[in-house]
Amino acid sequence: MSVMEKLSTRRTYRRFRQKAVPQDVVEDLIEAVRISSSAANRQPVRLVIVNTPEAVATVQPLVKWAAYLPPEQGTPKADEQPTLYAAVVDDTSLPGDHGVDLGIALANLTLAAWDKGVGSCIMGAIDKPALTELLHIEEPQKLMYMVAFGYPSHEAHIVPMTEETGVKYYLDENRDYCVPKRSKEEIARYL
Ligand SMILES: Cc1cc2nc3c(=O)[nH]c(=O)nc-3n(C[C@H](O)[C@H](O)[C@H](O)COP(=O)(O)O)c2cc1C
Repeated sequence: MSVMEKLSTRRTYRRFRQKAVPQDVVEDLIEAVRISSSAANRQPVRLVIVNTPEAVATVQPLVKWAAYLPPEQGTPKADEQPTLYAAVVDDTSLPGDHGVDLGIALANLTLAAWDKGVGSCIMGAIDKPALTELLHIEEPQKLMYMVAFGYPSHEAHIVPMTEETGVKYYLDENRDYCVPKRSKEEIARYL
């Protein structure tokens, strides 16, 4: 699969097969963040890997899925849950604003996973105080995002954004995600 095909199919996945992500893939995820570009090469991004079934189960109630969908459609059921989480943490002791560095790390992390067939969901709607305590994250480290991982049990397709769809993703008749994207003409212009 070409990089463009990988980028096109690397969508957000929210239902998963109950199969563990192997350790060599976990090592790839860590490596993908380790070698990410960052401003002044300061490398402020840290990870907390949550990969035992018991620990994963404690994270599940502290994240919120698919705000555009009713919970019965968007929230994974007990046998659809991710099998791995990574907490993405900012080392705030390092100078500068790390927003771009975090974004690049998230992109590398989720693309490295997808290269191994592992789907992901970046999660910002999380109970930060509870997760910070659960994952033993201490100042100056700051929890920014959780990323859920697993082998997807659904597909996700890009569809044209129309007046009818707006930006909201929806499920089709197969319960696959349809993700509207703006046209090339709308997002880019030639001088
Ligand atoms: C910064 C960020 C935060 C997100 N937070 C959540 C979240 O809390 N819960 C969720 O289900 N999806 C979350 N998403 C996934 C987005 O809803 C998803 O990326 C968007 O709908 C576009 O779908 P796509 O990733 O397949 O292109 C988040 C994505 C990003 C980039």
